Amino acid sequence: MVNERRPDDMVRITTPELADAYIEERIAALKAQVGDKKVLLALSGGVDSSVVAAMLIKAIGQQLVCVHVNHGLLRKGEPEQVIEVFQNQMKANLVYVDATDCFLDKLAGVSDPETKRKIIGGEFIKVFAEEARKLDGIEFLAQGTIWPDILESEAGIKAHHNAGGLPEDMKFELVEPVRILFKDEVRIVGERLGLPANMVYRQPFPGPGLGVRCPGAITRDRLEAVRESDAILREEFAKNGLEGKVWQYFTVVPDFKSTGVKDGKRTFDWPCIIRAINTTDVMEVTVEHLSDELIDHLVNRIIKEVPGINRVLFDYTPKPPATVEYE
Ligand code: XMP
Repeated sequence: MVNERRPDDMVRITTPELADAYIEERIAALKAQVGDKKVLLALSGGVDSSVVAAMLIKAIGQQLVCVHVNHGLLRKGEPEQVIEVFQNQMKANLVYVDATDCFLDKLAGVSDPETKRKIIGGEFIKVFAEEARKLDGIEFLAQGTIWPDILESEAGIKAHHNAGGLPEDMKFELVEPVRILFKDEVRIVGERLGLPANMVYRQPFPGPGLGVRCPGAITRDRLEAVRESDAILREEFAKNGLEGKVWQYFTVVPDFKSTGVKDGKRTFDWPCIIRAINTTDVMEVTVEHLSDELIDHLVNRIIKEVPGINRVLFDYTPKPPATVEYE
């Protein structure tokens, strides 16, 4: 159904039974909408596009073509998990595009935050459109639009990330199977569709990915330091019962170096900043205070395991005045 709206009297999906009923109804609707045609989906591995993929695989199987564009700015293990879950386990028709070099070459030497974001967004559309053109007989484009996206775009808060951006000649009918759901409902539906909990309950992650956590001009070595330190932070949060409890947590590796000492020798390396925050609406954000033991342990591991880091800092700044991300 195009431009579908959430019925005023729709019961909030809070239980497995309600999620199952929604899934059953949607699958019938998707089959009716799509028939024997093909549907294209940009599968980022984020919650919304993953749930849309799982729903469509159930409804139309091989008529769905998922395209996963790895822009080289994903977190450690993310592209691998997308391939494992969707290609190996769910047997999806998945096109994996490793566009890392293409993105990083375009970004080389670019330090302005907005220019970086524009390059990442523009390149993404380009790579996705190129893949779409290689495919025959696609009539539909699936999107992970959710109900807050519609409400926010209607209120003029943010432009809704719809098909806008694809070249003019590429016209698809939209398929939006979670359009009338709130985020918490999308997560329950995703779980009932068999997606792993760490995929449906994951923390928010920006579209430009680690690119905004590698401030200034991105270099491959500093990007690797962001990716490795982020992986350590996520592992430690999971071990210490903080996963799913703290809203968002990540590391940033800024573009300056300071003096240190290791094994009696001078080092000149980057600092790694840890950010951990809580919020309900993301307009105002408070800082999650970690225990001294955990901070000490994180400092030790990051210094020991991440090449190029000789100092670990903790960001105590709420929003406002600081935004969540650094760029
Ligand atoms: P800021 O930095 O604006 O972040 O305080 C608020 C929330 O939005 C996420 N964020 C983004 N999400 N595309 C996204 O999908 C983006 O370009 C983007 N920038 C920031 C950020 O991670 C935080 O949760």
